[in-house]
Parts: sequence; structure tokens; C-alpha cells
Amino acid sequence: MMTMNIFSRAIRRHKFPTAVSPWPQFLNEQPNNLSEYVSLSVRSFNSTSMDRSASMADTDLNDLPNEKFMLILGKPGGGKGTISSKILKDFPGMEHVSTGDILRQHVREETKLGKEAKAYMDRGDLVPDEVMIRLVLDDSMSAIDSGKHLLLDGFPRTIEQAIALDENIDVEVVVDLNIPTETIVERIADRWIHPASGRVYNYSYNPPLHHGKDDESGEDLVQRDDDKPKTVRKRLEAYDKVTSPLIQYYAKKGVLKTFSGTMSDKIYPDVKEWLKKMGLN
Ligand code: AP5
Ligand code: MG
Repeated sequence: MMTMNIFSRAIRRHKFPTAVSPWPQFLNEQPNNLSEYVSLSVRSFNSTSMDRSASMADTDLNDLPNEKFMLILGKPGGGKGTISSKILKDFPGMEHVSTGDILRQHVREETKLGKEAKAYMDRGDLVPDEVMIRLVLDDSMSAIDSGKHLLLDGFPRTIEQAIALDENIDVEVVVDLNIPTETIVERIADRWIHPASGRVYNYSYNPPLHHGKDDESGEDLVQRDDDKPKTVRKRLEAYDKVTSPLIQYYAKKGVLKTFSGTMSDKIYPDVKEWLKKMGLN
């Protein structure tokens, strides 16, 4: 079994010297498939962990930045991306890491990871845990390095992913969006996205200023390949079976709050108030 507890608990909340992009810069060798990608990443991390520990030994833990780690949970199409973009506007000290957006970027750029992940995504299946864990820890590390709060959207999605995350960071705030399934199925058919930024539009709810074009860049909007009704149903089933147990997992830790409703605009003011209470800025 792969060990994800690469960093000691004492230093795990602190900055790491390597800022890592979605395709990790530390990989000198080119992986040929998903499992090679994971094993190369782990090997590379393990070989540098001694240097990290040495440099962190001198760190006064009281000097650690006061960043918080936050998750947004919810069904596919439940408004995680929509609520995240509202949060980013009101809480500028927040860094958004969306696993779906990162994977779609790999698919667009036709990286080896993207080509293999696409098959899972198009079927509505989850990408294997070990790949997602590596990918997120790499991306979160660069977010942590920026000293910002971290907002994870789409991760964790399995208990295994949640445990791996726990071994590296303390999740302090979890927003759970509870939206009826009927509402979701209607909305997804109407969703258009700007692939480069991940901005989300909906012709009945938040249409773009100009039909088919992103408000900020003017570039074309597209529909996601996994938004076909059959695939959406499969994604919803996977959520019920594999992801929904995370609600209990975080509720037991006392860090989760559920927000129910059908309208993101009505839900959001309550989310905002709660985040302020939780000390986010
Ligand atoms: P991902 O991109 O994370 O997809 P998802 O969880 O299925 O969620 P969505 O992005 O579809 O929905 P959302 O909740 O962000 O809703 P949105 O704001 O867009 O993941 C895609 C795939 O990648 C997965 O299926 C899997 O294969 C893989 N993957 C990702 N992470 C993984 C992981 N950790 N492990 C394994 N595999 C992983 O809103 C939906 C629509 O509703 C929009 O059109 C929006 O405009 C509209 N809307 C929002 N609010 C309202 C409102 N009030 N009224 C009307 N419309 C509204
Ligand atoms: Mg999303």
C-alpha cells in the first residue's frame, strides 16, 4: 500500500519548498501511464523528504501562517463550482483547487494523465484514488506555499482520499451542499463552461453576457463531455455509494455544516456567514 504520510505531523501545515504544478515539475522521467505517474511521484517525494525535514527543524511553529483548509462537498452538479466562485469573490485570501478542473486541463492538453483520466471521466467513473491523492497533494502544496487558505472542490471523494488528506493537512471547515437530485438533472443539461478558467454558466440561471462566450475572455463556452444524461446518472450513483459517507466522516469530526436548498443564491449568504464565524477572511 502506498504511504501518503510523506511529511511529519509537526511540519505538515507549513510551507513546502517545492511549488508543484498540476503536472509536477519534479518528474524528470516521463511516466507512461497512471500507475507509473504515481510511483515516480512518490519516489521523487521520498528522495527529497530528508532535505525538507532538515530545513523545517529550525522553524518556530508559532510563526506558522494561520491558513485554514476547507472543503466543499456535494453531488455532481450540486453547485460546488458556483458557490466556490462566490466564496473566492468574498474571501480573497482563498486558493481554489478543483480536481475536476485540473483533470479537464490535463484532458485538453492531452497529457498522458489526461488521456487515461478521460476514459474514467467520460464513463462517469472516479479516477483511481492513488492518482487523485498524488495530484491533489502536489497542487495543494503549491497553494499552501502561497500562504492562502485552501478551498478543495471535488476532493476527497472516497474515504481513502479523506484519510490521505488527513495525514497531510488538518481540514477545519467542510461545507456540504445538499441539493435535490431532480434539480441537478435539470441544471446540468443547461450548463456551459469556460474550460480555461473553469467559470460556469447556465442559460436559465447565470447566462453569459454574450451568447456562447465567456464574460471575461470572450472565448467560446463548451459543454462538458460527462454532462450527457446517462453519464450524469452514473456520477450521481457513484456519489451516493462512494462519496456520501464522507458527510458522516466529517460530521463526526465536528467540522461540517450542511446547507440545503435548491438555489445557490439563497444558500450562499448562510455559507458566507458561517465561514466568517469559522474565522475565514
Ligand atoms: P468534477 O468536475 O468535480 O464534477 P462533479 O463533482 O461531478 O461536480 P460538477 O463540477 O459537475 O458540479 P458542481 O457541483 O461544481 O456544480 P456547478 O457549480 O457546476 O469532476 C468531474 C470528474 O472528474 C468526476 O466525475 C471524476 O471522474 C473525476 N474526479 C474529480 N475529482 C475526483 C476525485 N477526487 N476522485 C476521483 N475522480 C475524480 O453547478 C451545476 C449547474 O447548476 C451549473 O450550470 C450552474 O450554473 C447551475 N446552477 C448553480 N446554482 C444554480 C441555481 N441556483 N439555479 C439554477 N442553476 C444553478
Ligand atoms: Mg464543479
